[in-house]
Amino acid sequence: MAEECILQTKGISKSFFGVNVLNEIDFSIRRGEVHALMGENGAGKSTLMKIIMGIYHADAGEILFEGKPVVIRETKNALDLGISMIHQELNPIPEMTVAENVFLGREPHVGRLPIVDFKKLNQMTQDLLEKYEMADRISPQMHMSSLSIAQIQMMEIIKAVSYNSKVIIMDEPTSSLSESETKQLFKTIDLLRASGVGVIYISHRMAEVFELSDRISVLRDGSLIETIDRAHATTDHIIATMVGRALSSGYPRNHAVPGEVILEAKGVSGAGFEDVSFQVSAGEILGFAGLVGAGRSETMRAIVGYDRMKSGEIYVDGRRAAVRHPSDALKLGIVMASEDRKSLGLILCRDIKENISIQNERRYSRFGFMNHRQEREQCEGIAHEMSVKMNGIADIAGNLSGGNQQKVVLAKCLLTHPKIMILDEPTRGIDVGAKAEIYKKMVELAEGGMAIIMISSEMPELIGMSDRILAMSGGRVRAEFDNRERQTSQAEILRAALKGVE
Ligand SMILES: Nc1ncnc2c1ncn2[C@@H]1O[C@H](COP(=O)(O)OP(=O)(O)OP(=O)(O)O)[C@@H](O)[C@H]1O
Ligand SMILES: [Mg+2]
Repeated sequence: MAEECILQTKGISKSFFGVNVLNEIDFSIRRGEVHALMGENGAGKSTLMKIIMGIYHADAGEILFEGKPVVIRETKNALDLGISMIHQELNPIPEMTVAENVFLGREPHVGRLPIVDFKKLNQMTQDLLEKYEMADRISPQMHMSSLSIAQIQMMEIIKAVSYNSKVIIMDEPTSSLSESETKQLFKTIDLLRASGVGVIYISHRMAEVFELSDRISVLRDGSLIETIDRAHATTDHIIATMVGRALSSGYPRNHAVPGEVILEAKGVSGAGFEDVSFQVSAGEILGFAGLVGAGRSETMRAIVGYDRMKSGEIYVDGRRAAVRHPSDALKLGIVMASEDRKSLGLILCRDIKENISIQNERRYSRFGFMNHRQEREQCEGIAHEMSVKMNGIADIAGNLSGGNQQKVVLAKCLLTHPKIMILDEPTRGIDVGAKAEIYKKMVELAEGGMAIIMISSEMPELIGMSDRILAMSGGRVRAEFDNRERQTSQAEILRAALKGVE
């Protein structure tokens, strides 16, 4: 058994500022297996992987590679051993080409001259792209700035295999991918597995984990609760292990009777969307379906004033509204939780309290004086309500786990007490327990009279939660489905979402 392990951790522990995040973790990855790592937001998944990559250092424990203890002080050590990681957040160097990025710092030279042999560089990259069946989707000379997230990921995978990696870590690789891109990634993972690479696969998506993995490990509150063969695991068992209690699956129902139309868009156009019209009523959850790039986020960003609208009109409560800046939208009671929490959602260097209250400063100041006690209490309340895993609201946002950052974004929006809330991929990267809480909260808010617009790429979520669904493609609304009377099928939605796309 032991000899087929490529990589093993033994008794790895880690604390941040006196708070224990990992407890004596024994974890292993075998040759040619996909080992899924699951756990709630903040369970310690990314931290364990960053220790393996030399980004963080363990307080105790050891790492064995091919049976021998190794010291990994920096990422270079891990890469040299043959371990690489595709991070939760991708940071490519935009000015470079794909080939330059893949062989960064290891470029082939012309003879012994200090001149890069670009022909060879591109050929080496092309060979790898062909070997991993990506050559039809990405080429060596493409510029990084022109790539989609899926293509950047392909580049990262090619980079990983170019180091002859024996272990590749993927931290939530599919969270920004469309269904067809996800399928493509799975094919690549199968090729990696067949060539003996061990893949550590972190994901919150149960179906994916069951489709792909050979073994599943569950982390809870920094402890490894169990490692189980996929063949012996069930979804319910894994969920119960993750959250430490049984959890009802399924979607809560919105019983609100839709009231007056609160928001209406009439023929709005802008960069990436054309002649979009829709209405949403009080108490209604309106879903927006579409593939990545359909123009859903672009439309909403223009409606709340992040981007410019070229033409069209917006009505709030039947009155024509002019939104030139997000603060105009806030005054009208419209708030948006952006899908890109890094650029729009959060100030990563500030603490949770500041992030939650930033849009609300007016609420706490009277005659120019801030009511700090009230501010703190409300922030604490809402952070607990969203079950943000934290030591306190003075924690720095950038140190939170991916999913917990997302919860802070939602908390921040809720605290503005909006009439209309626009959620762009609200459950991306969120664990099962927290997802259920967010769904419950959405229904509660709708039943309290709020209008909710939800953009989502997860079909089951869209169908499970929406009262009505609009499908967009190529920047236009292609179809509308009443999802109350009769549940819309995935096929119907997909057909509409593919209209006008080749
Ligand atoms: N640099 C840091 N400083 C302080 N605390 C940190 C730091 N990095 C991580 N943590 C804390 O460690 C805990 C584990 O975080 P980690 O990112 O490993 O979670 P995760 O399992 O990857 O969650 P998610 O599914 O949300 O991505 C969290 O409570 C987080 O706040
Ligand atoms: Mg993480």
